Amino acid sequence: MNNKKVGIIGVGNVGATLAFTLATKSLCSQIVLKDLRENIVEAMALDISQSANAANAQTKVSAAKEPEDFSNCDVIVITAGIPRKPGMSRDDLLLTNAKIMTSVINEIKDYNKDAIYIIVSNPLDAMVYTALKAANIDKNRVLGMAGILDSARMSHFIQEKIGNEKSKIEASVMGGHGDDMVPLANHSTVDGKSLDTVLNNEDIEEIITKTRNGGAQIVKLLETGSAYYAPAYSSSLMVEAILTDNKKVYPCAVMLNGEYGYENIVAGVPVKLGKNGVEEIIELDLDEKQTSEFAKSIASVKELVDTLENKFFV
Ligand code: LAC
Repeated sequence: MNNKKVGIIGVGNVGATLAFTLATKSLCSQIVLKDLRENIVEAMALDISQSANAANAQTKVSAAKEPEDFSNCDVIVITAGIPRKPGMSRDDLLLTNAKIMTSVINEIKDYNKDAIYIIVSNPLDAMVYTALKAANIDKNRVLGMAGILDSARMSHFIQEKIGNEKSKIEASVMGGHGDDMVPLANHSTVDGKSLDTVLNNEDIEEIITKTRNGGAQIVKLLETGSAYYAPAYSSSLMVEAILTDNKKVYPCAVMLNGEYGYENIVAGVPVKLGKNGVEEIIELDLDEKQTSEFAKSIASVKELVDTLENKFFV
């Protein structure tokens, strides 16, 4: 068992499922949970702690009483914020969740000189920007979870289309976590073969549309919230990569500093993860169409960031 500590702020469905995943897989020795609903977070801490016992894992799970309880965390995951309701876009949550994000960070930042922050709240890219601004720390230490989730959804829809259970599918999605995300057919593979050599254009376009709509499809069915199993599992992969310094490359939302030709904007790009958070940003070759789709996606994020700068950070 390592000696790692993870804080999770916002223990709704995503936060709780993430804590359950980390605890039962023994990925850290301690998890601290915080939510506005004190009794619920206490119940979650007990229930998840007991799950760890059932799993013969040694992770201790507790409910935070004071901001100091987050001191010396290796990773802090923030899922706090209101979720989407049917018919709402992720962007509709902007100002409310920016306020929540800023107050969460302000409360704990002085107790965490080295923690890596993983942001899960929506609208994702704008919340990474907000968190970075509120924490005022090195940009390597703040990352958003979205690309792993969007790639998993793309992979699901590829699987559905090819209908062969045995294929090994690797999908790749870049850009903002919004309606303009950029699923990359030529960087996605089925049994090592590029997707654009396996399926025709029409099928690929259908997969891309379904991937972009994957979150909304679940929001519509659930009626009272958004997806959580895949978001939580995707977050756990990022936590694991950072805690174990495994240097795996995953698509994550990070602040760009000249990569892909952009700076001072957050977007999903392939990132090598390790103990320092962002160890390296990988620059893929994009064709002309992908370059213009990425530009469109960046422009959507920029619109939100401009709204934050004009209405929130004033
Ligand atoms: C989704 C939300 C969590 O994509 O953004 O399911």
